[in-house]
Amino acid sequence: MEKRWKAAVITLSDKGYAGKREDRSGPLIKEMLEAKEYKVTEQILLPDEQEEIEKCLCRLCDAYSVDLILTTGGTGFSMKDRTPEATLAIADRNVPGIAEAMRFASLQITPRAMLSRGVSVIRKRTLIINLPGSPKAVRENLEYILPALSHGIGILS
Ligand code: MTE
Repeated sequence: MEKRWKAAVITLSDKGYAGKREDRSGPLIKEMLEAKEYKVTEQILLPDEQEEIEKCLCRLCDAYSVDLILTTGGTGFSMKDRTPEATLAIADRNVPGIAEAMRFASLQITPRAMLSRGVSVIRKRTLIINLPGSPKAVRENLEYILPALSHGIGILS
């Protein structure tokens, strides 16, 4: 398939970063994107540190100019979970419909879907979407939103 869009994947996990847990969600996202019209140019593993997440998001949007950033993890209720806060802090524009659609679709599968605080935003010409942390949640959410994304990214780029 023709690679039209540049994508980055960031896994947020203290345990993954410390080498105490294998990151299965980041590679799964990469695989699902590369089965479509995306080339994953950056795959990054970070701890749940808000400042580090913000810096990484800004670099990918401002210097690397990727079209899409997907994050996984850090969207729940643990006091360490800071992914939505970091994403909102560097956002130019809110795109609430994508996060709403993910919760809507996921609620048909588990009531716990309401516990993800993930957001979706635009910074400059980059779309940023927070996915939950587990590979199961990643697959369920991404399968639902992927068919609609390239139309939006095409308008943005
Ligand atoms: N969404 C889907 N589709 N499937 C799931 O299994 N798990 C939920 C939710 N969203 C889940 C889901 C659970 S249990 C939590 S706590 C939140 O995502 C937040 O996950 P995170 O803390 O790993 O980011």
